[in-house]
Amino acid sequence: IAPIERQLAGLRVLTGGWRKAGETIGVVPTMGALHQGHLSLARAARAACDRVIVTIFVNPKQFNDPDDLKNYPRTEQEDARKLESIGVDLIYVPDPDQIYPDGFATTVSVGGLTDMLCGEARPGHFDGVATVVSKLFTQTAADFAFFGEKDYQQLQIVRRMAADLDLGVEVVGCPTIREEDGLAMSSRNLLLSDRSRIKAPMLAQVMNDLRDQLLDGAAMSDIVDDARTGILNAGFTEIDYLELRDGGDLSLLDQTKPGARLFAAAWLAGVRLIDNIAVDAP
Ligand code: PAJ
Repeated sequence: IAPIERQLAGLRVLTGGWRKAGETIGVVPTMGALHQGHLSLARAARAACDRVIVTIFVNPKQFNDPDDLKNYPRTEQEDARKLESIGVDLIYVPDPDQIYPDGFATTVSVGGLTDMLCGEARPGHFDGVATVVSKLFTQTAADFAFFGEKDYQQLQIVRRMAADLDLGVEVVGCPTIREEDGLAMSSRNLLLSDRSRIKAPMLAQVMNDLRDQLLDGAAMSDIVDDARTGILNAGFTEIDYLELRDGGDLSLLDQTKPGARLFAAAWLAGVRLIDNIAVDAP
């Protein structure tokens, strides 16, 4: 099983040796409950870097709801076995005080990109993400960091932060891995009942239909109401957002253009699912 380190001091001994030997370090930050989406990031890191660190830390600062934090799936032993087969060099599972020592008082807050989409629905969420990711970048001394397009807004925020703060980390975006029925893989899918699991892929299906209509020249404002109805009829109880935005600055669009993406977040039986897809201009 790949070695697990829980202390920053131990992590630094290893990374110090690697850097001295001139080896590149890639980091894959996760909250565990690993699935093929996470593993695709670890494989991309394995292919690109001399040394690969996967971090597992369920970050309390990015949860809005204490129950959500409490119910978040934790499967460390299985996670370690999955990572073993990929050949990662280290699994960093920091004890909470290694990330947030007593008296911790600093917040990293990225402007602009955090105001919309999940930032609007989950106040403070992206401050929690940016704060922990900046710490994981510096703690691991990474040269490269691998993030999924599944959380596209997060990816853009982390890119912005790394550039703004000169963290010296190149952020690499990796495609969303899906189940056979189109549902984007997510640790939260584990929380769906069998009945809800059958309904869940409708979100991606409606988004694919929307994409086809947008590529045929339709405007979002003319087709979004029917799409919303489709999602709700499938059994979702609430839609946080269903929007077309620029994939760079995330500004709102009504018609597609190169780089445009569709973004959605919706609730299914108490579980919040998010997804996004590219809408390439014809
Ligand atoms: P988590 O949800 O565990 O996701 C860890 C990484 O896996 C993220 O970069 C996410 O985009 C990626 N990922 C999740 N599902 C994916 C899928 N189906 N296909 C491809 N990549 C996928 O995102 C977080 O944790 C946290 O916010 C974190 C960055 C670790 C900070 O706490």
